[in-house]
Amino acid sequence: MKKLKIDVVSDVMSSTMKNSIRALAKAALCATVLSAAPSVFADAKTIKDGVFTQAQVDAGAQTYDNACKACHDMRFYRDTLKSWDGQPVLWMWETILGTMPADNPGSLMLEEYTDVVAYILSENGFPVGDTALDPDTNMADINIVAP
Ligand code: HEC
Repeated sequence: MKKLKIDVVSDVMSSTMKNSIRALAKAALCATVLSAAPSVFADAKTIKDGVFTQAQVDAGAQTYDNACKACHDMRFYRDTLKSWDGQPVLWMWETILGTMPADNPGSLMLEEYTDVVAYILSENGFPVGDTALDPDTNMADINIVAP
């Protein structure tokens, strides 16, 4: 008799425990999803994260003087960067490649366009870093932010 009572109690206990284990598992799953979300955002880089090298800036300065300076002063790019806010730097690079210099679009080498973009970003206050900007590998995952 005593044993039976204990069995009933332990049955009740175990079903309650199963429910709470399920609830815990759900909570843990939610916590995992929630903690994963911010890290996805943390992985998306911006032009503030040191995404071009000093060598690119130096090379870009020369190309810029030859191919762009006649038509644009640096102030021009503050508004340009604002208008590209939140978009991948690759898209701006492609636009420049396809439309600039306005008198001879596409006339520079791809690398020269990349260097010019690095120079423009540097002149607008964004920091150099250890990794080069590269349209083939990383520029789709680096977003522009307004200067
Ligand atoms: C012959 C003049 C001329 C030259 C040289 C020139 N541009 Fe432009 N650029 C323009 C004009 C005109 C526009 C469009 C009107 C505007 O936005 O002021 C423009 C627009 C732009 C834009 C805005 C594009 C957009 O849609 O946001 C960028 C960025 C740009 N130029 C970069 C460059 C770079 C980099 C070079 C050198 C490789 C260059 N330009 C050379 C005349 C020129």
